[in-house]
Amino acid sequence: MAQEYRVLLEYADKIDPANAADYIKVGGYKGLEKARGMEPKALIEEVKKSGLRGRGGAGFNAGMKWSFVPQDAPVKYVVCNLDEGEPGTYKDRIICQKNAQALLEGMAICGAAIGSNQGYIYCRGEYPFVVDLLKRAVESAKAEGVLGDFDIEARMGAGAYVCGEETALIESIEGHRGEPRFKPPFPGVEGLWGVPTVVNNVETFACLPYILTRGAEWFAGIGAPKYPGTKIVTLTGDVVNSTWFEVPTDMTLREVIFELGGGVKNGKKFKAVQVGGTSGAFIPEANLDCPIDFDSMGNMGAALGSGAVLVLDETRDIVDVVTRISKFFEHESCGKCNPCREGTFRCREIMEKINNGNGSEKDIDNLQLLSKVMQKAALCGLGQAAPIPIDSTIKHFKHEYSRKLVVTSGKGGH
Ligand SMILES: Cc1cc2nc3c(=O)[nH]c(=O)nc-3n(C[C@H](O)[C@H](O)[C@H](O)COP(=O)(O)O)c2cc1C
Repeated sequence: MAQEYRVLLEYADKIDPANAADYIKVGGYKGLEKARGMEPKALIEEVKKSGLRGRGGAGFNAGMKWSFVPQDAPVKYVVCNLDEGEPGTYKDRIICQKNAQALLEGMAICGAAIGSNQGYIYCRGEYPFVVDLLKRAVESAKAEGVLGDFDIEARMGAGAYVCGEETALIESIEGHRGEPRFKPPFPGVEGLWGVPTVVNNVETFACLPYILTRGAEWFAGIGAPKYPGTKIVTLTGDVVNSTWFEVPTDMTLREVIFELGGGVKNGKKFKAVQVGGTSGAFIPEANLDCPIDFDSMGNMGAALGSGAVLVLDETRDIVDVVTRISKFFEHESCGKCNPCREGTFRCREIMEKINNGNGSEKDIDNLQLLSKVMQKAALCGLGQAAPIPIDSTIKHFKHEYSRKLVVTSGKGGH
């Protein structure tokens, strides 16, 4: 029977998440103490050795990202991405509400590694209560004297999905409209206010105290070798236990949904699961034995993304669900680049046509062509990933599309 493996959330509901003294009692801030006693290069090597990869979606090696920051730059920033705009995702909120001090400690460890004494937390616009909690947590850590000269400011986000993209997030902190920048230069070289900046996800930072205290080898030994550690997944939709779990990264989707999640609710049959949030692929039953780690999911043509797991039962209309998703992307496209601005509009238009029973095979071909162009030509991950739900459902649930097509000369839907 598959089981949770709690590291970041071991003391969930047992300590006051904002209270530094509570956190210190269960071993908190020992990792930062250790980090401060190390040479920055050795600290970055330790994080690299742990194999920690970003938990915000792109899966980039954290230590490697930090190593790109020029050590001799006079000012550098540590930015935490708590935008959490991906529908169905709430793991970063849970980390803050259960163990906010681990996030602060992780950011300070990053500060020690890159030589920065200023951190910012960019918090989802719909989470004002989390900003309040984080402000209390920072005050409490300062009162305990554990942050030293590292300061952290929690900021309210602008409330747009695209602001979760790291360069749009940086623009937004600077007070500009949240639009992605062209890369390179990457934030590690030219980020917030033009200086080297590390942007990591909440969960990525929150792993660091445990890596420092328990050792890189310990972390590297948990879960999938190439994407080690634990992952917090959030189950939503037609599943019995619609809640969060912290699991080793080699757990399979089937174990997550049917063992921890208790399976499909109301005695219905499973139809599909969408992993990684709204931009994730839809996965059929036959592929559920895939481990959730970044590479295994990628090899299957899906993505772990933020770790959101949306379960759909047999009664769900896939084409209708994907049509609604395409409306979301049309609404959230920032409009800066053509492939995304026009592409998300056209995807929504064609999906609605098919969903309303007016589509043809040609429309499906056009959707696939659009998808190719958007994945290659859009400026940021929003436009690149927007057609993935369409692509994956045409691949695995083509019959649901065919059923809705206009019947022409004896061919097509029936
Ligand atoms: C449209 C879009 C939205 C994103 N939203 C988030 C988000 O809410 N949280 C997050 O951590 N990363 C998000 N990302 C990924 C970030 O750009 C970036 O890769 C991440 O913050 C890096 O942190 P990590 O390496 O620790 O994962 C988003 C990317 C795109 C393209």
